[in-house]
Amino acid sequence: MADEQYWAVIPAAGSGERMGSDLPKQYYPLCGKPLIEHTLDRFCTHPRIKGVVVAIAEHDRYWRELKLSYANEVLFVTGGAKRCHSVLNGLKRAEQIGRAQDWVLVHDAARPCVRKEDIDRLLSVLADDPVGGLLALPVRDTMKRSQSDNTVCETVEREGLWHALTPQMFRLEPLRRAIEAALAEGRLVTDEAQAMEFAGAAPRLVEGHPDNIKITSRADLALAELYLRQQAQEGCG
Ligand code: C5P
Repeated sequence: MADEQYWAVIPAAGSGERMGSDLPKQYYPLCGKPLIEHTLDRFCTHPRIKGVVVAIAEHDRYWRELKLSYANEVLFVTGGAKRCHSVLNGLKRAEQIGRAQDWVLVHDAARPCVRKEDIDRLLSVLADDPVGGLLALPVRDTMKRSQSDNTVCETVEREGLWHALTPQMFRLEPLRRAIEAALAEGRLVTDEAQAMEFAGAAPRLVEGHPDNIKITSRADLALAELYLRQQAQEGCG
């Protein structure tokens, strides 16, 4: 379609329990500003993304303190109990301002190092795709399945296994419907692709860069700082 429109939904309503702090991880200082601002920078300055919906926690005290001044429209909604509920709320808001068949890129606030070139690759590879897809990384290590006592019960063939990253890009209405259908069956999908899979679709995997890490522990913050500095030096952020 010549007049394709793109939106972004950023789930940022997690509590960050695993970081062992009251400050949600999306607000941790990273290279001189809150982590979430790095994430927003990548979507709110993207020339093809028309608007960004951020899902924040109901009692979030930090969002209002951010100093945001972007060219692209930034809206916020209240998040939900799980990531999929937060995404669903964001999609519903995006549908109020967008069109049912517009593309939406769902991206974790906790992934501040996603490269603009990876966002662009996703847009171009999926341009004519009937379903949509996601950034992903092929698994490189030998994979083991464990039993409850942490002994190995199986080596899992890594051929064809990928790590699912974000952004994940689908059309607005089909994605919203797929998540609603999954939730109606009690399936708390952990990513958008899984909802689309339950709906019978086959999302396309688009290889991204390994620096698109999700911040889950304090050690990840140091790594993210390193990646952001490296990207700034190489001009590929
Ligand atoms: O907890 P996890 O690291 O998987 O969260 C991934 C993303 O989803 C984070 O950006 C987090 O803020 C967001 N999230 C959310 N609503 C929840 C739980 C997580 O928006 N209820």
